[in-house]
Amino acid sequence: MKKTIFAFFVILTHIGFSQSYNTMWIPDTLIGTNFSLNIKDTFAQIVNSGNQTITGGINGKFWGPTLIINKGDVVHMNVTNHLNDSTTIHWHGMHLPAVMDGGPHQIIPPGTIWQPYWEVKNQASTLWYHPHMHEMSQTQITKGLGGFIIVRDAEESALALPRKYGLDDIPIVITDRDINSQNQFAIVPYGDSIMANMTLRAQYSVPAQFVRMRLLNGAIETSYNLGFSDNRSFYIIGTDGGLLDSPVLISGATPRYILSAGERVEILVDFSGQTGSSVFLKAYNQSLANFTPGSESFPNGPFASYLGHTNYNIVKLNISSPTSNPITSVPTTLVNNVYPLEQDAVFTRTITLSDSTGVTSVPILGPNAFILGHHLFDINTINHNIPLNQTEIWELKSSSVFAHPFHIHDVEFKILTINGTPPPTQQQGWKDVILVEGGKTVRFIAKFQDYADAVHPFMYHCHIALHEDEGMMGQFVVTESAGTDQITSTNIDFRVYPNPTNDKIFFSFPTDNNEIYYLSVKNVNGKTVLMLPKPKLENGIDVSHFAKGVYFVELTDNKSKLKTTKKIIIE
Ligand code: C2O
Ligand code: CU
Ligand code: CU
Repeated sequence: MKKTIFAFFVILTHIGFSQSYNTMWIPDTLIGTNFSLNIKDTFAQIVNSGNQTITGGINGKFWGPTLIINKGDVVHMNVTNHLNDSTTIHWHGMHLPAVMDGGPHQIIPPGTIWQPYWEVKNQASTLWYHPHMHEMSQTQITKGLGGFIIVRDAEESALALPRKYGLDDIPIVITDRDINSQNQFAIVPYGDSIMANMTLRAQYSVPAQFVRMRLLNGAIETSYNLGFSDNRSFYIIGTDGGLLDSPVLISGATPRYILSAGERVEILVDFSGQTGSSVFLKAYNQSLANFTPGSESFPNGPFASYLGHTNYNIVKLNISSPTSNPITSVPTTLVNNVYPLEQDAVFTRTITLSDSTGVTSVPILGPNAFILGHHLFDINTINHNIPLNQTEIWELKSSSVFAHPFHIHDVEFKILTINGTPPPTQQQGWKDVILVEGGKTVRFIAKFQDYADAVHPFMYHCHIALHEDEGMMGQFVVTESAGTDQITSTNIDFRVYPNPTNDKIFFSFPTDNNEIYYLSVKNVNGKTVLMLPKPKLENGIDVSHFAKGVYFVELTDNKSKLKTTKKIIIE
């Protein structure tokens, strides 16, 4: 019933205000090495009139700032959870230690600051961050929590590519929402309203030259079959993990690129000499293959959506005068990617994607849920142990009827084959999400290097948040060669001073070479207020913003993982 009312509203809106577009919002940028992200429950005027919508925002009212970081820098994140629920923030696509990854194991309780840091090892790319709290991902992503990460490096900077943020280098997160008659978001897999950077009926002005778009599918479930309303051709210059070796022209009668949940693609579009005209970026989901998320058209039930199996506008692009120093051509080559070699793979790991019928039954999907490796996700089970520096082939074998966007943490991979044949050129770059179509087998290669941690695992899962929440997920640890993880040391011994304090606390250790895996501070009620993975303690820890009272500082030894707690008083 609600759907019917909304449909009338949509139709009336269309007739009455068919010319009304909203200028697409461009997220603010934060640049540097120190970032503060404040996650909160808030409100935003999403629909032009009527109620505000209850949203989640990071530093703002919806979505979050774009973090611009440089390869080689050490970046520090100060993530404060002001929500009423626990959450996590995952750095999707980032190669970093598992304890900094922000997956379902790095839970940030309400009111707590989590301060991960890492060296940026990724090459120039478009990544993103989003909540990854187990069984809460769909809800928290629907609220609008997330943001772009743009990684820059010397190779990319040396290329003649558009790089003026919001002008000729435009980030667009594409998503959809079901907005009820009270203007509130429903927690559903498929929305009825498309949003470009959280803007309904978006329009944006693009200069008459080559424009770069960093497209992110931030949807819960939908894949978008992207193209332009005049069927113009465009170039793919980058995929999930960075630039391709050279641009790939998508042309022909209907140039399209399918972008699934979690995936990114960087494209170059030529608007030269077209000042005054306009064109739509569209989703041509009518021609999506059956059983691809977004291809179905259910009139009723939990998967009903007006956007299912239809074509629709995402953003209207109004072509305006060129900027000064416009980019007017496409580089012939981009970067020299060095991929792992198939002959270096010492192990093939098979991951099945299947329907759970007969195995298990879960809340929304019931007996028709989807699973990996023939079992539902169990947060207490490590599914795989991968030796550090191992190059592996992962064989994703689907017996599911449905297509699932498979995502893995820690690494970017290279697709070797899809059902035995190499992927199209535009899919031959670095990827971290691949849509595995029903019944097909995808093989990719990846090297698991730099970061070993026997305690905190990395995840792999379907990036359809509903499927992930319902258990289509698994986890692996990367460990240094067997035997070295023996528990040899005892509890770490330390002293905190000054105590009491009202500013900083410092640490002293009676023995040398103390490596701390984790520092956390709890208040007298046992609530965690500060979480510091692998803290640097030389310069002390700032506690000046803590309320007066008694706290417990807990250090976890890196080797033994044993914990020691000391009481401190803040006055
Ligand atoms: Cu973008 Cu494990 O997720
Ligand atoms: Cu991820
Ligand atoms: Cu799935």
